[in-house]
Amino acid sequence: MVVAEKGVAPMPRREAVLERLGAFGPPEPYRIKMVEPVHRSTRAEREAQLAQAGYNLFRIPAEQVWIDLLTDSGTGAMSSGQWAALMQGDESYAGARSFYRFEATVREVFGLPHVIPTHQGRAAEHLLFGELVRPGQKALANTFFDTTRANAEQAGAQAIDLPSPMASEQVAPFKGDVDLDRVAAVLRSSPGEVAAVVLTVTNNAAGGQPVSLANIRETRDLCQQHGVPLVVDASRIAENAFFIKEREDGWASAPVAAIVGAIGECADVISMSAKKDGLANIGGFLALRDDALAERIRRRMVVTEGFPTYGGLAGRDLEAIAVGLREALDEAYLAHRIGQVRFLAVLLRDLGVPLLEPPGGHGVFVDAGAFLQHIPRERFPGQALAIALYAEAGVRSCEIGSVMFGADSGSRRPELVRLAIPRRVYTEAQLALVARAFASLQEKLASVRGVVIVEQPPVLRHFTARFAPV
Ligand code: F0G
Repeated sequence: MVVAEKGVAPMPRREAVLERLGAFGPPEPYRIKMVEPVHRSTRAEREAQLAQAGYNLFRIPAEQVWIDLLTDSGTGAMSSGQWAALMQGDESYAGARSFYRFEATVREVFGLPHVIPTHQGRAAEHLLFGELVRPGQKALANTFFDTTRANAEQAGAQAIDLPSPMASEQVAPFKGDVDLDRVAAVLRSSPGEVAAVVLTVTNNAAGGQPVSLANIRETRDLCQQHGVPLVVDASRIAENAFFIKEREDGWASAPVAAIVGAIGECADVISMSAKKDGLANIGGFLALRDDALAERIRRRMVVTEGFPTYGGLAGRDLEAIAVGLREALDEAYLAHRIGQVRFLAVLLRDLGVPLLEPPGGHGVFVDAGAFLQHIPRERFPGQALAIALYAEAGVRSCEIGSVMFGADSGSRRPELVRLAIPRRVYTEAQLALVARAFASLQEKLASVRGVVIVEQPPVLRHFTARFAPV
């Protein structure tokens, strides 16, 4: 019998371990103090749930879901620092201490003087566009997120997406940029008719792709030349700043906080859903430079949102956001966060699952149209994939394609499924399980069937429509 030398593993195994270790991303800069059990259902249970939910994942009770990648919005885990801050909440109706803390943090992080809390991002958009837009004007953006578009349109604006031509390239560092030539052309040809230019950073609707600081600064210059306000939708600004540090010339040694400050410097208005890079479960805000505009918004909000020092939030929520905004700028946190998205993307890419490349900041976007080539657009390949993934492994994702945008949204829009990763919630073993589910699906692709819509509301149909497999 041959006895292995004590303490030294045979070389081939060592190499294999090193390769496996290389697959992990940067480590969690935290340890876990509180856990929440998740439910592991059987396939039969999931198939019954799907049928009952009309094959719409928004209708599935969250308790049934094993791994919930529906959204990264409001689904993150708060830190011990945030939970401690909650207890400091001052619930006074007007002028609460918590408001002043929140205001000081937002001013410090973004550098704009007027800070107006709102209950979430879309409430900030509603107030802003209500004051900014004259009916019939245009609003331009790298790409409007759907609530931003809805609020601009409700205020009477024509919302126009002008993504950079880079967005349709295979791989580019800043696919979230706005098309400066087209912005300049519209501003020149429509004097007085553009209410605002919006930069969504990162660009959620375009796959969580970042916007470069050069693009933000040039947009600011164009806006200044034409006297049009630049609105930055800062919902994922920390992730965007991390990409700038990684990819844009001249920023490698700058702290992420300084990059966020440099973006804030360009903005006339910051609109933010704090449910993303505020690391909070609810909340949002506007930060503005214009005294008169801020005053008009404060007057308007009392009717629907609340007094200007709480804006629909509890004092404790303001405290949690104030702490969360700073934690989101921590570079070890961001390296781990973006690393998790990349970890999942690498597993899927190596399996041969077609993805939007490079992966964005808050999730992996699977090209369902390319993955399920046997399912035509009219049979909703994105929805079919989201359903199959849920049936396979209890993983909930979100269709971003013809169901969400409507069949008339142009035949060049890809049929995507977003695997949005909540912040500080799942481990790499859980993400590996998602990849395993895709590997299983690959073995039975032909059995994945398309769907038809059997019932739908007139607007935002993806939330409530019912489907049936064909
Ligand atoms: N702006 C962007 C870029 C967003 O992604 C969202 C929400 C909002 C504004 C609206 O903020 O939800 O606080 O009212 N995005 C979520 C998502 C819903 O799943 O991507 P909210």
